[in-house]
Amino acid sequence: MSTLFPPLQQARIQGMDQYQALCGEAERDYPAYWARLAREFLSWKKPFTQALNDSQAPFFKWFEDGLLNVSYNCLDRHVEAGRGERTALIFETDDGQVRPVTYRELLALTSRMANALKSRGVKKGDRVVIYMPMSVEGVAAMQACARIGATHSVVFGGFSAQSLRDRIQDAGAVLLITADEQMRGGKALALKSIVDEALADHCCPTLKDVLVYRRTGGAVAWTEGRDLWLHEVMAGQSDHCEPEWVEAEHPLFLLYTSGSTGKPKGVQHSSGGYLLHAALTTSWTFDLQDSDVFWCTADIGWVTGHSYIAYGPLALGGTEVVFEGVPTFPDAGRFWQMIQKHKVTVFYTAPTAIRSLIKAAETVPTVHPKNYDLSSLRILGSVGEPINPAAWEWYYQNVGGGRCPIVDTFWQTETGGHMITPLPGVTPMAPGSCTLPFPGIQAAIVDEMGNDVPNGTGGILVVKKPWPSMIRTIWGDPERFKKSYYPEELKGYYLAGDGAIRNAETGYFTITGRIDDVLNVSGHRMGTMEIESALVAHTELVAEAAVVGRPDDVTGEAICAFVVLKRARPTGEEAKAIANELRNWVAKEIGPIAKPKEIRFGDNLPKTRSGKIMRRLLRSLAKGEAVTQDTSTLENPAILDQLAKAN
Ligand code: WTA
Repeated sequence: MSTLFPPLQQARIQGMDQYQALCGEAERDYPAYWARLAREFLSWKKPFTQALNDSQAPFFKWFEDGLLNVSYNCLDRHVEAGRGERTALIFETDDGQVRPVTYRELLALTSRMANALKSRGVKKGDRVVIYMPMSVEGVAAMQACARIGATHSVVFGGFSAQSLRDRIQDAGAVLLITADEQMRGGKALALKSIVDEALADHCCPTLKDVLVYRRTGGAVAWTEGRDLWLHEVMAGQSDHCEPEWVEAEHPLFLLYTSGSTGKPKGVQHSSGGYLLHAALTTSWTFDLQDSDVFWCTADIGWVTGHSYIAYGPLALGGTEVVFEGVPTFPDAGRFWQMIQKHKVTVFYTAPTAIRSLIKAAETVPTVHPKNYDLSSLRILGSVGEPINPAAWEWYYQNVGGGRCPIVDTFWQTETGGHMITPLPGVTPMAPGSCTLPFPGIQAAIVDEMGNDVPNGTGGILVVKKPWPSMIRTIWGDPERFKKSYYPEELKGYYLAGDGAIRNAETGYFTITGRIDDVLNVSGHRMGTMEIESALVAHTELVAEAAVVGRPDDVTGEAICAFVVLKRARPTGEEAKAIANELRNWVAKEIGPIAKPKEIRFGDNLPKTRSGKIMRRLLRSLAKGEAVTQDTSTLENPAILDQLAKAN
């Protein structure tokens, strides 16, 4: 009665032979391969007749003349097939209350919200910003936008008023959905008041309405004529809403991410191609079966929460846990306790969480995973940054009991879903390597001119052929899209922005880190230029700033800022106080995730005679390494000694 979609025997990858066969099928005719899967995995209102239109490359179009609705694919089709009573979401609040939601209920909630949006005049193609906590309503809000063809842009609840404002303005949003507050780690944190600050001074003229989901009941300020309670707008709305059938290329969402300039880019994703890959990868990478309880611990504010919470598992009709809180509340055993309680079978989290929980288990033995019954688990996943072999081993042994394959999934906001990953029980694993490309993804390593490099030699990670869930453009900036991802010298290959190397014997890929000025802090992408811009925006104090990353045991990379003040270089207590002020300033400008871990003050920064900051040197200094690079072009070599030490 409750079979997932599509029928499972079709979906399960049986072994390396089948993996090779799929790769072969894609190599022979990749548009035909993706077309076959798009027919099997998605329900189309009007079938497409052509898989790929590459006439305007690199602006590729997939399944262009097909019509579908993403929310229909995630909800209605399961209810229509008699699976409405299956649990879609198992929502657990910060304080441990559990609310299961069936497919029938999620469809009704989504439809009422969709009707509420329509009643406020939102229509196909309008942009809606979602700034909400992890919640059933957050997922429903995304689905409701998809249902009426509005393009959502979810902004992570940890971003500041300034970041939120930038995104509302860039997207030209007409409506914003938020909550009064969010609960994290036993504390109520403001959302609505940050929205108020973001919208102050009529700075977002396109935005008409703010719908507020009442989560905590905490006090909020109210702007008449703009603010409305979500439950009031939804009251009396029908729980039926005819889906808006959209072209496959219709933009499902924008998601802002950091690049190598100061301004985040609005990555635009499609409806058909995106949903195909979200569903397909959920099926193959996680081997999702009828009996599974899936749990992805990401936030819906990141791409992982889009593909593996809001869309992929629902498109397949699966059952998933959605968690409001944090891994360390009430204690660092929370993840293990929830896996035990909900009998989670497939668990997907980030290396940074694993590393912090290893530390916690070493200090407080009662939160060690061995104290919990984790026997329900059968597959573990990792995402967002390289997983170091020691953390991999701990995860494998202590969480997976030595039984569960780990899928180390490499992908990006721009790729929409997994690109390079083992398939569980199929691909032999190698700790620290994301192994082999997902079938159909033509990943390769090349030199700066786009020529293949031999295995065992490091180079630039590219994808040679387009694929359905790829980024379509940068919202409002097609030129930047071309320059960032399809630079001329790379022969029409997609440039991922990461370095990589393939093992000489196995051909397995290992990601060696970003080749641009993007840091990965706790699995979050942060542009160094973005943080530098935030620092120099403190015009009263800061004359100049340079930001680099350095390795960190827990967060992967840590942010280290070198700052020249407009006053004399501070030392001792004064330096501490100013560093603190600047850290808080960055939190206010971007969000707490962008706070530099360390700030060092100098009279100057190391520069070439032509005035270019020598970041390579700063990276060595931040790491505490001796500078071995050539410093002969340096204008002011004495500055290195000063910057080598903490203040
Ligand atoms: C990094 C997150 C190594 C990489 C889904 C990429 C990884 C960036 C892995 C994208 C992995 C992600 N191994 N590195 N398994 N997964 N990355 O857009 O540098 O937030 O370019 O997407 O994270 O981060 P984003």
